[in-house]
Amino acid sequence: MDNKPTILIIIGISGDLSRKKLLPAIGQIFESKMIPEKFKIVGVTRQNDVDINHLLKNTHNKDYLLKNTELFQMDLDDSSDYERLKSHLEKIESEFGESAQYIFYFSIPPNILKSIVELIGKSGLALRENIKLLIEKPFGVDLQSAIDLVSHIDKYFKQEQIYRIDHYLAKETAQNIIVFRNGNSLFKKTWNKDFIEKIEITVSEEIGIEGRVKFYEQTGALRDLIQSHLLQLLALTLMEIPEEGHLNEIPYLRYKALSRLQIVKDSNNFCAKRGQYDSYREEVNNPDSMVETFASINLESDDPKWKGVKIIFNTGKALKDKITFIKILYKKDNEHESNELLLRLQPNEGISFSVWAKNPGYEHKISRHILDFSFKDHYEVLPMAYEQVLFNAIKGDHSLFTLSEEIIETWRILDPLQKEWINQNQDLIIYPKGSDIKDILG
Ligand code: BG6
Repeated sequence: MDNKPTILIIIGISGDLSRKKLLPAIGQIFESKMIPEKFKIVGVTRQNDVDINHLLKNTHNKDYLLKNTELFQMDLDDSSDYERLKSHLEKIESEFGESAQYIFYFSIPPNILKSIVELIGKSGLALRENIKLLIEKPFGVDLQSAIDLVSHIDKYFKQEQIYRIDHYLAKETAQNIIVFRNGNSLFKKTWNKDFIEKIEITVSEEIGIEGRVKFYEQTGALRDLIQSHLLQLLALTLMEIPEEGHLNEIPYLRYKALSRLQIVKDSNNFCAKRGQYDSYREEVNNPDSMVETFASINLESDDPKWKGVKIIFNTGKALKDKITFIKILYKKDNEHESNELLLRLQPNEGISFSVWAKNPGYEHKISRHILDFSFKDHYEVLPMAYEQVLFNAIKGDHSLFTLSEEIIETWRILDPLQKEWINQNQDLIIYPKGSDIKDILG
């Protein structure tokens, strides 16, 4: 356990993410006895009627959270309120009897983030050494805005103070990708274009936009999931393995893998499709909305190790299943040789590998069989991604967070397609809720 006295300042405590993910994750870290002994949550809110009991309604260890959470009402646009916040945090520190690290957690749109970072940066708060900013996606909305946001934050804070969250990096099975690649010589030696034909990453969700109308109308699948989660999973799949004991190099190695990627073009058109589920426009009350709730794109890497390997992303909302996986298809000389490796992120986290073997009996028949491993058969609990996010931020370990260079690369990859989709309005596939990806792609 890292026992640094810590104050977690949640900007927008009544927001969806804080209620559904962050507060439950803190309850869980407490249960695992990994929370610092001196720990306080300060929930910053503009409203003066937030009911903390309601926020913690379905959270484990509610008593611990209630005892250690204070609400702080302030006007986020008023610089003098930041000085008030500073005095409040100092009061908590004096109760601790020693200085604490301040971790600011932001789950707010990029334009608001800019002004709040500036106000914190210009206040006395930024004079402290031990202050960290934990920033949720989306980080920017396109290449230019991400570049602007990075340089804006750089004016006030050092790189090592910033923790950009992509909770997929903290999923147990995502962290396992590097370990699996490195720890199994069969896969380690064949993890390249000479053996691998295709890499497919699918993040399929059963849920729709769940009332997040404003957010989703400004976002869409490309920005919401591909720019972050799918590209990070791909980076973990393609990156070089760090040398033994150099886990801190992981973000830089992911960045290098991302810097070699682009979207495939086929005689001037991007190999990409977008779709929207049938009741979406009604749900957002915008009959002309072109926002994609489904996207499928083909990518390629110009890294000599990966040149020629097909890379396919599929993701969408209101689909048939909730399922996330990375599928690696091996090259074959004939049909009865194809091997497929499946890294399952959810549900039923685990790994399977298909092999061909003779069927028992007099006849010489062969079939495809699956070697399968599920974590749940061997371990009782898999920590939630947000537990690992918070735990690592408290500890100061950056390996599960994204570098600004990575963020800029991801927007660089998507920028030409984003521009094309803004200018076109005929290519949106409308699909019924609950569709299969295969049916959408036709
Ligand atoms: C979030 C997206 O980052 O990830 C959501 O904003 C999406 O739209 C969610 O539903 C999926 O996360 P998970 O962990 O449920 O797969």
